[in-house]
Amino acid sequence: MATFSHDVLIIGSGAAGLTVALKLPDTSDVAVLSKGKLNNASTWYAQGGVAAVLDKTDSLESHVKDTHIAGAGLCHDDAVRKTVENGPDAIRWLIDLGVDFTKLDEGDGGEFGYHLTREGGHSHRRIIHAADATGIAISRALIENIEHRKNVTLYEDRIAVDLIIDNSNGESRCIGAYVYNSETDTTDLFLAKFVVLAAGGASKVYLYTTNPDIATGDGIAMAWRAGCRVANMEFMQFHPTCLYHPKAKASLVTEAIRGEGGRLLLPDGQRFMHRFDERAELAPRDVVARAIDYEMKRLGADCLYLDISHRPADFIINHFPTVYAKCLQLGIDITKEPMPIVPAAHYTCGGVITDLNGQTDISGLYAIGETASTGLHGANRMASNSLLECFVFGEAASQHMAEQMSAIPMPTSAPEWDESLVTEAEEDVVIAHNWDELRRFMWDYVGIVRTTKRLERAWHRADMLKKEIAEYYSNYKISKDLLELRNLVVIAELIIRSAQARKESRGLHHILNFPDLLAETHDTVLSPADPLPEK
Ligand code: FAD
Ligand code: SIN
Repeated sequence: MATFSHDVLIIGSGAAGLTVALKLPDTSDVAVLSKGKLNNASTWYAQGGVAAVLDKTDSLESHVKDTHIAGAGLCHDDAVRKTVENGPDAIRWLIDLGVDFTKLDEGDGGEFGYHLTREGGHSHRRIIHAADATGIAISRALIENIEHRKNVTLYEDRIAVDLIIDNSNGESRCIGAYVYNSETDTTDLFLAKFVVLAAGGASKVYLYTTNPDIATGDGIAMAWRAGCRVANMEFMQFHPTCLYHPKAKASLVTEAIRGEGGRLLLPDGQRFMHRFDERAELAPRDVVARAIDYEMKRLGADCLYLDISHRPADFIINHFPTVYAKCLQLGIDITKEPMPIVPAAHYTCGGVITDLNGQTDISGLYAIGETASTGLHGANRMASNSLLECFVFGEAASQHMAEQMSAIPMPTSAPEWDESLVTEAEEDVVIAHNWDELRRFMWDYVGIVRTTKRLERAWHRADMLKKEIAEYYSNYKISKDLLELRNLVVIAELIIRSAQARKESRGLHHILNFPDLLAETHDTVLSPADPLPEK
C-alpha cells in the first residue's frame, strides 16, 4: 500500500472540487481525485447555465424569493442569501478564468453584456450560459487553470473507498481516505489535514437518469459510514425533459428551451401545462415533471413532446446546438418538429449536512456541491442554482481551511488497508444483477409519485440487497462496480427512509397517502448514531 500526504485531499474534479482547489492559497499542497478522467463529472454535462443576478432590472431579493418558492418552504434563508449575494462575484471569477459565456447580440440588458436566459421558477432572465453547453465551457476553464497550478496534484482513475477518522484526541477528525486505483487494481492511503467531499450526486440510483456514470453517491455514502448526518434525501429531482428514444441513452433537453418559449405537448399536439400551474412550462421542475408523469400515465403514452419549432431556425441552432445536433443524429429536426421527451432522475437535493463553510459534522471534513446539503435547495432545487452553489461554497470552504492550515498538524499514520481475508471475485454477475435490480425498484417504487406500500416494498428489497452486498464486500476483492454498488445501496436506503419519514407531499416528494402540505415542516435529518430501524 502506497501512502500519499497532502494538506488537502479533494475527492472530485467537478465544479465543486476544482473551485476549492483553485481558491486554496498556492502555498498549500492539494490533491484532487477523479473517479475517471478529470472531466467525467456532471459539471461537464451542464447545459442551461448558472443563475445569478446580473441584470439591472433583476434584484438579489427576487432571486432569494424565487429560490424559496421553488424550494417549497424548506430552504434555509442564510444559505440562500449567501449563495445569491455571492452570485455576481462568482460569475466575474468564472469570466476572469476564461469561461466564454454567450454574449448579447445587440441591444440592451445584462450589466456584463452577456445573454441571460430563463428557466423554471425564475421570475427574471438571470441564467448566464455558453449556448447549451455551459458545463463544457466551465469545465474547460477550470481544468486549464488547475493544470497550471504547481501546488495541485491531479490523480485520475482513483476511487475513494472510505474516509479515515481519527478518534484519538477526544474528537472525531477526518485524516484521509483509502483510495482504490482502478488502473493498477491497488488500494492506497491518502493522508491529509483536510478532506473535501466533492463527489457529486446520486442519481444513478435510478434506472433512467441524465447523470454520467460517476453519480453513484459515493461522497454521501462515505460520509454516512464515517458518522455524518444527512438531510432531505427524499428530495431527488427528476428533470422534466430528457430526450426519449428507444435506441439512445437518456440525454438532457435543457430547460432553457422552455425559457425561450418551448411548449410541452400531448401526443395529439395539445398544450397541457396551464391545467397544472399558471406558470405553465416555466413552473418549477417538480410541478412540470409531475404533470408530465401524470399525463403519460393517464394516456398510457411512452413519452410527451417539447416543441420549439415556432422560433426561427437560426435562433434554435445558435442557442441550442447540443440538443439540435443530438436530435438530428436520431432523425429529429427540432427546427421543424417537436422532440419526444420523458422525465429522468437529475439532481440530489439532499446530502451531507454542512454549515455555511461547507464543514460537516466531522472536524476536517467538508462537503461541497451536489454531495452537500447546505440548506440552499430545500424541497426542490431551482434550475441553475446548483453550479452557483459549487462556486460560492467552494470558495467559503477553501477560506475556512486556509485560516486553519498552519494550526493543524499533518497526520502521519493510519491503519493499513487489509486485503488478507478476501479473494478474487468469482461471479461478477451478482454485482451486475444487483446493480440492475436496485436501480429498477428505485425507479418503480421511489420515483416521481410514491405510496407508502411502494416505499415499504422498496425498503424490503434494499434491506435484502444491503446484506448480500455486505457479504460480498467482506469476502471478495474490491472493484469499481462493487464499490459503487455498495454506495448505491446506502443511498437507496437513505432515500427510502427519508421518504417514509415525511408524512406530507412537498416539493419533489409526492406521496399519494399524504397528498397535503403539513402546516409545520422541517428537514428530514438522518443520523448514523440512530441506526436505521429494521423493517
Ligand atoms: P460533479 O460535477 O458530478 O463532480 C463529481 C466528481 O467527483 C467527479 O470528478 C467524479 O469523478 C468524482 N467522484 C465521485 N465519486 C468519487 C470517488 N469515490 N472517488 C473519487 N472521485 C469521485 N446545474 C446548473 O446549475 N446548471 C445547469 O445548467 C445544469 N445542467 C445540468 C445538466 C446535466 C445533464 C446534469 C447531469 C446536471 C446539470 N446540472 C446543472 C447540475 C450540475 O451540473 C451539478 O449539480 C454540478 O455540476 C455538480 O458539481 P459537483 O462538483 O458537485 O459534482
Ligand atoms: C437544464 O439545462 O435544464 C439543467 C439546468 C439545471 O439542472 O439546473
